[in-house]
Amino acid sequence: MSIRTTFTALTALAVASGAWAQENPRPEGLAALGPPPIPADNPMTPEKVALGEMLFFDPILSGNYGMPCSACHLPEAGWAIQDRISFGYPGTTHWRNSQTVVNSAYYGKLFWAGASGSLEHQARSAARGGVAGNGEDDGMEARLAFVPEYVEAFNEVFGDDWPSVRHAYMAIAAYQRTLVQTDTPFDNYMNGDDEALDEAQKRGLELFAGKANCIACHSGPLLSNEAYYNIGVPPYAGWEDDELAQITFRFELYAKGSTEEMYRTTKDDPGLYFRTKQKEDKGKFRVPSLRYTAYTFPYMHNGMLETLEDVVEFYDQGGGENEFAANKSELIQPLGLTAEEKADLVAFLGSLSGDEILPEPPELPSMQPLPAVAQN
Ligand code: HEC
Ligand code: HEC
Repeated sequence: MSIRTTFTALTALAVASGAWAQENPRPEGLAALGPPPIPADNPMTPEKVALGEMLFFDPILSGNYGMPCSACHLPEAGWAIQDRISFGYPGTTHWRNSQTVVNSAYYGKLFWAGASGSLEHQARSAARGGVAGNGEDDGMEARLAFVPEYVEAFNEVFGDDWPSVRHAYMAIAAYQRTLVQTDTPFDNYMNGDDEALDEAQKRGLELFAGKANCIACHSGPLLSNEAYYNIGVPPYAGWEDDELAQITFRFELYAKGSTEEMYRTTKDDPGLYFRTKQKEDKGKFRVPSLRYTAYTFPYMHNGMLETLEDVVEFYDQGGGENEFAANKSELIQPLGLTAEEKADLVAFLGSLSGDEILPEPPELPSMQPLPAVAQN
């Protein structure tokens, strides 16, 4: 073999492995998103999804007939709301940032600290929770029964004589399983379309899986390993001087059974601790998906970071500091990224969101007097 042929063969080999992979990196540990899992006891039908859509937008499932799911999960605000902390049921404020419902179908545990095990269960907590829907089951069922279209739809979909609020939550869950996005530029790229990412995004992807090590936690098709970490998000400043927010926060500490001392002194959201009551879980939150984040600012459980640039800056500095510093993850370290690398990483994050999901809001049926009971 001449030197020349050997050289050509070696180049071909390099192109086939390392060099080619750098041009179009597809790191292990990341993947395109497939369809969401559907629980066997709540199969999807078009009629159920249509009912769930109406119920998601209808204030009928709340205490005051004024707080639909869509109030805090507005399609035009990334199916969330763009305040740091969500507003709450009238007379209250919520205590955490509103999460997008887009792609929530894929999570094993819902909410910032994973307090809910299914979308069905989550919808119930939202409709009944004191700082969210604040509804009573009896009242909500009675109202549904005054709407002929709902009576008919619950009968058709679930065989109900009277609409059951449990079935309402199942329909809402089914609807949310349609709010998924599997064709982002990232998905198309991972599925083989080399052109779906631009050069900056490809460099960003390599950083994500390499130097910046985001992939240690944001992995898999959802870009979340669904584990819990304290990454040092600083506390929400509003809790110091906003009376309403103080009331909600102290109430949550009390209602979720923290110690007397914590109830009196803690100024920060203990996150996973509420579920486990282990002090090493204070300040830990579920790793969120990075999908659809182009539309879901501000970021983190308390909305403390406004833009994706701020997020990358935050990680570059080695995260921040909160009351539970002892639990901060060792995976969060200063990254030493250059200005160009930061821009590339932000560009890559942009590839995880496709077009905004903006359906026409459904037409909502209204209450009618019940048919007169026959006199005898
Ligand atoms: C008053 C505002 C408000 C209302 C009303 C509301 N939500 Fe939420 N939603 C939030 C906030 C805030 C969070 C995060 C709460 C937490 O982690 O403790 C959230 C979280 C969620 C999540 C979890 C997403 C994830 O990534 O884990 C889903 C799903 C959801 N809401 C669906 C609903 C549905 C369905 C309804 C109606 C039945 C509803 N929400 C009503 C504010 C609201
Ligand atoms: C140690 C695990 C870990 C690593 C490493 C990590 N993250 Fe995160 N990320 C989290 C957790 C946990 C949260 C939620 C924290 C909270 O709300 O307090 C989060 C939140 C985010 C959010 C906000 C999402 C939202 O919906 O508000 C973005 C964006 C993000 N991370 C991007 C990145 C990028 C980019 C990197 C790499 C530079 C990275 N993360 C590295 C665990 C991690």
